Amino acid sequence: MKPFSKPIYVTRPLLPDRKAIHRKLDEILDAQWLTNRGPQHKLFEKEITRYLKVPYVSLVNNGTSALQLACRVLRLTGEVITTPFTFPATPHALYWNNIKPVFCDIEEASWNIDPSKIEALITPATSAILPVHVFGNPCDTKAIQKIADKYRLKVVYDAAHCFGVKVGEKGIGNFGDASAFSFHATKVFNTLEGGAITCKDPAIKERIDLAKNFGFQGENTIVAPGINAKMDEFQAAFGLVCLKILAREIKKRKKLTAIYQQRLSKIEGIDFATNNNRTVEHNYYNFVIRVDEGEFGKSRDQLYEELKKYNIFTRKYFYPLCSQFQCYRDSSSVFPINLPVAGRVSKEVLSLPLYGGLAESCVSKICDIVEALRKSNNQL
Ligand SMILES: Cc1ncc(COP(=O)(O)O)c(C=O)c1O
Repeated sequence: MKPFSKPIYVTRPLLPDRKAIHRKLDEILDAQWLTNRGPQHKLFEKEITRYLKVPYVSLVNNGTSALQLACRVLRLTGEVITTPFTFPATPHALYWNNIKPVFCDIEEASWNIDPSKIEALITPATSAILPVHVFGNPCDTKAIQKIADKYRLKVVYDAAHCFGVKVGEKGIGNFGDASAFSFHATKVFNTLEGGAITCKDPAIKERIDLAKNFGFQGENTIVAPGINAKMDEFQAAFGLVCLKILAREIKKRKKLTAIYQQRLSKIEGIDFATNNNRTVEHNYYNFVIRVDEGEFGKSRDQLYEELKKYNIFTRKYFYPLCSQFQCYRDSSSVFPINLPVAGRVSKEVLSLPLYGGLAESCVSKICDIVEALRKSNNQL
């Protein structure tokens, strides 16, 4: 089998129509308002609130700031229980708030934090739980909230992957005390860089809006030591035009995902994350497989290297675990013996190319190649 003539990357950003962008740029330049809650920002925040089906949204400059601010305004302290199977921004946001991340193992099926292992990690210093809806797959929010209520803990969701995901009729940003979204270029929905925090309490929304703008209340009063985490007018305008084409993008990704699932589920040694909740409406952020070396005949790392020879660029996502970073080594929660599932999963996952502009024939060919690589010596 011949390699692809051009590289197939793991993702490509969602790009709106150029004319629509040019029109927006004209609007911004005509208004001579580039940042600080301009007209684009106001409109985008309103539309996002409606789209996400949440009471309140605060736009920010990226998903990491969203996490940092959410932890800050909820006044989290001491220790926060989170997952090691995530992007570095999750524990780093805690670190930047002088909070110690305590890593909890994940579920074998969903790859999300395992609620049955959270209680054992709670100490008098625990102030919150910071779960991640990994790859847009919703966590067991009921079980997590039950624990939080029992121990009077806050819950902040890292919803970086879940723009537009719904559970039943509920937008994913309605769970816990706050949720942090990323609008990074690699996400299903993007504003180049960007992010948002959703919450249900107007007082929290007010605190976020103050904190993201140096703590300014009005022109001359500073009520808190805020930072600068504002979204600018171009980002907001880009978001407005991207929002219009998002449904089409998700539809395309859904179709491609169905091809992957249908083809790859027949291959021994390839598995996917699952979620028992049938009411979930996904956003098809990415397509991640789990490779069982014994059954597939090749390790995840070997498959990653072999696919490169065919001009297919996949990603080991998430690998390594955050608990393996040098900066978090001083905690017993990072010992591999305490994180057996996360340890295995991170060595076996591989994110395959997925984006709306990817042709169905490309996905079929990727599946052909994966199938042929199983137990082969690469004599394709
Ligand atoms: C799970 C998770 N959390 C947080 C972030 C940080 O988002 P951003 O890159 O917008 O700062 C990412 C980014 O990819 C992520 O994957």
